[in-house]
Amino acid sequence: MIKAIRGTRDLLPPHTDLWNWVEAKVRDIFRRYNFHEIRTPLFEDTSLFARGVGEDTDIVTKEMFTWADKGRAASERSQSLTLRPENTAGVVRAYIEHGLGNSSVLQKLYYIGPQFRRERPQKGRYRQFYQIGAEVIGPPSTGSESPVRDAEVLEMLATLLDELGLGGWSLQLNSVGCAADRARYNKGLREALKPVIHQLCADCQSRAQTNPLRVLDCKVPEDQPIIAKLPRISQYLDDACRENFAAVRAMLDALGVPYSVNERMVRGLDYYTRTTFEFTHPNLGAQNAVLGGGRYDGLSESLDGPKAPGIGFAIGEDRLILALQAEGVTVAESPEAYVAPLGAGMNAHALQLARGLRRAGVSVELGDETFRLKKSFEAAEKGGARYIVIVGEDEVKSGEFAVKELASGRQEQVSGKKLAEYLLGRP
Ligand code: HAM
Repeated sequence: MIKAIRGTRDLLPPHTDLWNWVEAKVRDIFRRYNFHEIRTPLFEDTSLFARGVGEDTDIVTKEMFTWADKGRAASERSQSLTLRPENTAGVVRAYIEHGLGNSSVLQKLYYIGPQFRRERPQKGRYRQFYQIGAEVIGPPSTGSESPVRDAEVLEMLATLLDELGLGGWSLQLNSVGCAADRARYNKGLREALKPVIHQLCADCQSRAQTNPLRVLDCKVPEDQPIIAKLPRISQYLDDACRENFAAVRAMLDALGVPYSVNERMVRGLDYYTRTTFEFTHPNLGAQNAVLGGGRYDGLSESLDGPKAPGIGFAIGEDRLILALQAEGVTVAESPEAYVAPLGAGMNAHALQLARGLRRAGVSVELGDETFRLKKSFEAAEKGGARYIVIVGEDEVKSGEFAVKELASGRQEQVSGKKLAEYLLGRP
């Protein structure tokens, strides 16, 4: 038997009803905040991610699905392509390619779709997973650099999680400063790590050499007292970055959006500047980040584009769904009515009635004239229909249909003309 590949999964009904409910709610929130959808390809030139996400990140060094795409002619060179591990780089590529910055309108773009990372699969971590993300980007004249953008995005996320009914989330906030701040911080970290490096775990010893910031991410209990004494990024922010972070926090305070500053939060992508954040949920186990994001003021330029400060986020939809389920949120759509043709020649009549009901907005499941009445009732109940409508010879002649509410057993004769309103509960 051929099975789905490790780390991928089939999403089946009724489970997909919850996914669709979430996506419909999220699209409505994006509409209210004036975001518009962007759809970029599932695969891109590998160098986009190497340059955008960062050559030394785990994503680029270990987790990408990359292949050499053959040139058309034997003489043509093959091109290295990669399934997108995230979508910010693709959105910024599209922003540059289509000159979206020329319109001098702030671009507020959102996306919903699969991403691919070759990570070790476990609960909440898949090789094909889904993100709901958004990017706010534009030339500085559009206000793209303003801390109000950061506060607006964070407030939107709080509203989004609240409206989905997800309680218990917490927002971790940090500022990683600008490139110059980070370079100084890296240097400071290296110096502080030198005398203690031999006391740290093997992973940290190599991180201290390659990317000292990653040491802050270490979960080994014995390393924690040493890490707690390392210098903090806040000591290295220049005045502008410090003021920017204070302005973001002041707006969140004024809005009443709760957060905690976590100076050890290290995001796994290299493009971040200034504000970075994660929302976590306690029911998710080890993979507790429901979403992550931040500002990336230099990304466009690093991809040969114009100056285009931006901020964005991506929600792990798989994890959001897990968290909602853990809180008991369920959605299962079932038909309002089951139309049961009764006796030979009744299929066409039932089909006609079902067509009228469906066109009037009723969700309808249709039986078959070979079913006996008992079997139709069983099928209606199993399918979760609220009502069953019998279509027999007498009903067709009189234009009056026997309608039974399955849960209560209440039965009424309803005329064909009034049937849709009746089934929709608007008599
Ligand atoms: P990220 O933190 O790499 O950021 O991913 C965002 C979210 O995607 C995570 O918080 C997590 O919920 C989900 N996620 C990541 N990997 C997996 C996985 N293997 N399985 C299931 N869920 C996963 C980004 O991707 C940035 N592009 C976010 C961003 C947008 N920053 C600025 N704009």
